[in-house]
Amino acid sequence: MFKPVAIAPSILSADFMNLGRDIALIEEAGAGYVHVDVMDGHFVPNITIGVPHVRQLHGLASIPLDVHLMVSNPLEELPWFIQAGADVLTVHAESLQGQWLNRAVELIHEGGARACVACKPHTPLSALQPVIAELDMALIMSVEPGFSGQSYIEGSEQRVAEVAAMARAAGNDGMLIEVDGGIGEETVGRVCAAGADVIVCGNAVFGAADPAGALAAIARRGDAARLAALAEGGC
Ligand code: DX5
Ligand code: ZN
Repeated sequence: MFKPVAIAPSILSADFMNLGRDIALIEEAGAGYVHVDVMDGHFVPNITIGVPHVRQLHGLASIPLDVHLMVSNPLEELPWFIQAGADVLTVHAESLQGQWLNRAVELIHEGGARACVACKPHTPLSALQPVIAELDMALIMSVEPGFSGQSYIEGSEQRVAEVAAMARAAGNDGMLIEVDGGIGEETVGRVCAAGADVIVCGNAVFGAADPAGALAAIARRGDAARLAALAEGGC
């Protein structure tokens, strides 16, 4: 059955002095989530925002907060972000070895949030195998995490198709697939045809002269690709 793509604009590219205005804008334009990039300057070479921001965003946004933790110690920090109002909480597979990845997913669910695990572009997707049956969402990074405005890594759509097949094989048909990095009108069709459900867009939305128009155009192209794939018997 056809499900429209959900756009998750990343506020990393928004105007931090006018976040209320920018969030109202994307909500009116039909965004599905607010994507919040938390970076610690250690897991990635950049520092962005933290718990107090998420708490205030929770009061401001009426669509779910999709909090992407790019930190070295997610097990310690994730409860704070759930308490602050994260609806979807993403941790990176690279920062959680062995059983700790399972524990993180359990903790997210115990906290009442939806659990997502992310893989950097060169991490084998087998890293998701121990938790794939439990995930609400998997995040395929299509750039190296750390900065907005980078170019899409060619071939990332194959990793989307691969993770879709892994979820089906695990009997987790409800798992969503999110793609993050370098997505805009040119690239959204490829990842949606491969099975992407949630599209993170930073620069392509907030860097556009008309952010609402850009968001709508990306959603239209994503939906068209999903419909075409469905007609061909794909996702
Ligand atoms: C990168 C972040 C992304 C980033 C996306 O580490 O996870 O969410 O803000 O920005 P664009 O869409 O500009 O690549
Ligand atoms: Zn992100």
